[in-house]
Amino acid sequence: MEFDTALRTTEFDAFYTFNPARLMRSTRAFVEGFPGSVLYAVKANPLPQVISTVRTAGVAGFDVASIGEALLVQAEAPGARSWFMNPAKSRRDIERAWRELGLRDFVIDCAAELDKLIEVLPTGESSLRVHVRFHSGASDALYDLNSKFGASHEETLRLLQRVAVQTAWSCGLAFHPGSQTISIEPYLTAMQTAARLIEQADARVASLDIGGGFPARYDNMPMPPPSALLRQLGEFVASSATLKRVELLCEPGRVLAYDCMSLFARVILRKDQALYCGAGIFGGLLPAQQFFQLPVRAWRGGEAIDATAGGQREFVVFGPTCDSNDRLAFPYALPDHLREGDWIEFQHVGAYSESVRCAFNGFSVDHLVTLDDHEAG
Ligand SMILES: Cc1ncc(COP(=O)(O)O)c(C=O)c1O
Repeated sequence: MEFDTALRTTEFDAFYTFNPARLMRSTRAFVEGFPGSVLYAVKANPLPQVISTVRTAGVAGFDVASIGEALLVQAEAPGARSWFMNPAKSRRDIERAWRELGLRDFVIDCAAELDKLIEVLPTGESSLRVHVRFHSGASDALYDLNSKFGASHEETLRLLQRVAVQTAWSCGLAFHPGSQTISIEPYLTAMQTAARLIEQADARVASLDIGGGFPARYDNMPMPPPSALLRQLGEFVASSATLKRVELLCEPGRVLAYDCMSLFARVILRKDQALYCGAGIFGGLLPAQQFFQLPVRAWRGGEAIDATAGGQREFVVFGPTCDSNDRLAFPYALPDHLREGDWIEFQHVGAYSESVRCAFNGFSVDHLVTLDDHEAG
């Protein structure tokens, strides 16, 4: 469907747009700036066209958390390599990953998960690599993942030693400071820890995966572009004799995908300063339920409404469902004259929107418009 047709339709009250050129640009810039190999974290946005675009843009492979994601990569990017970087996997999925899908990279953060790998995978197979994920320390991430995963430093050394003694596999280290980490310090601190662990380990550590978590721009968080952060990472690695010797990996999702999609939601009801829209938290605005204020723009009659003409006011924005949680966390400044039938474009919903949305209450966003680069957003 054409963008113009979607804006003029009366058939549905919400649709997504996807801008592949923008995804290509941000992925290329990140791949060029990162001092190692970039794996795309499929969980951020598993749309087939996102997977194929980031591959064309030069990612070295894919971070998958499940067999479902690995199958998706196999289908959409045949021949691409996937890393199974979820520290909690069922035996059945470990077996399928290796035997059916040929995955060779796994992550663990405890002895029980290593026991499973040793029982299920061939211990004499030297092409396998096990990454031990350690607790990365204090983080300013909005979603701190260390509360769920990450071995203590002592346990990390024990696990590395067990891999070296009990198998022919190679070893790596991994950490993840959490999603939307807003400063460089948690990365640098964890990389310092990694260097110490590599020096202390009784096993040769061949790689370090510094996770994802690189920050995206939202209206309440005007983060600088990733280039400055990547430069600092590069300088840090170059200054460490230990880190310079290992293969460096990262697994970004959000920072690559966030600005390649918008969600257009029609105003279906206006009650004074409250707007009820054709899609809300369940339709894909979950990131805006709590932490993020999304950039927005209003559209009428196929055109964006000039935000500088006429007055603006702050609106409370609700989705269409009966759930009172279906409400955006921040007030949104939009034209005062906004009315039923107008569209609100919620920008920067390329990450953790498509992947987590659902059709609660029967409201399903079924249309996706692929844009030419100049068309919107
Ligand atoms: C293991 C792992 N890798 C990568 C990511 C991607 O993180 P982000 O989208 O913040 O870059 C996540 C996010 O939850 C993760 O759990």
